[in-house]
Amino acid sequence: MNKTNIKNFKKTLSKFTTGVTVVCTNHKNLTYGKTVNSFNSLSLSPPLVLFSLGNYSSSINVYLKSKFLSINILSKKQKKVSNHFSKKNPKLNKINFFKDENNTYFLEDCVANLGCEVIDRIKKGDHIIFICKVINVKTNEKLKPLSYYNSRYY
Ligand SMILES: Cc1cc2nc3c(=O)[nH]c(=O)nc-3n(C[C@H](O)[C@H](O)[C@H](O)COP(=O)(O)O)c2cc1C
Repeated sequence: MNKTNIKNFKKTLSKFTTGVTVVCTNHKNLTYGKTVNSFNSLSLSPPLVLFSLGNYSSSINVYLKSKFLSINILSKKQKKVSNHFSKKNPKLNKINFFKDENNTYFLEDCVANLGCEVIDRIKKGDHIIFICKVINVKTNEKLKPLSYYNSRYY
């Protein structure tokens, strides 16, 4: 694919509406979070989900070493949170987290939170697919989900 075709491919993919998540993990007592819309359900039994991360990401090695992580589905009120976690090394001092028994950190005030164990990592093209077993879930029925379409939030 030449440059024009890649641009066209990206534009085509942007026509698919997704939700927006932030995937959080811990490494050496530091917490990391990254905005991710490649999240998808994979299997009901066992309960599996997946997402993919670019192999060029500044924190890819941290995610590759993660055993446990959280997938936090953002609400319409969390556009700023999405933009914040799409930056390199986002500051965490103003972020409210809660944690589970595996010491996984979750974002507060989300539509849903999934606590996961990474069971497989598959390298394909310039991304790595993370296959995760869901260990615990939390939902908030009162919140509406944030959507992403055509490179804009809805
Ligand atoms: C709405 C939205 C969805 C995104 N989804 C993904 C994704 O699924 N996978 C990914 O690797 N990066 C995704 N990104 C980009 C990352 O959040 C981040 O900007 C990128 O990884 C560069 O920062 P880094 O080098 O620190 O990782 C998304 C960004 C936005 C704003």
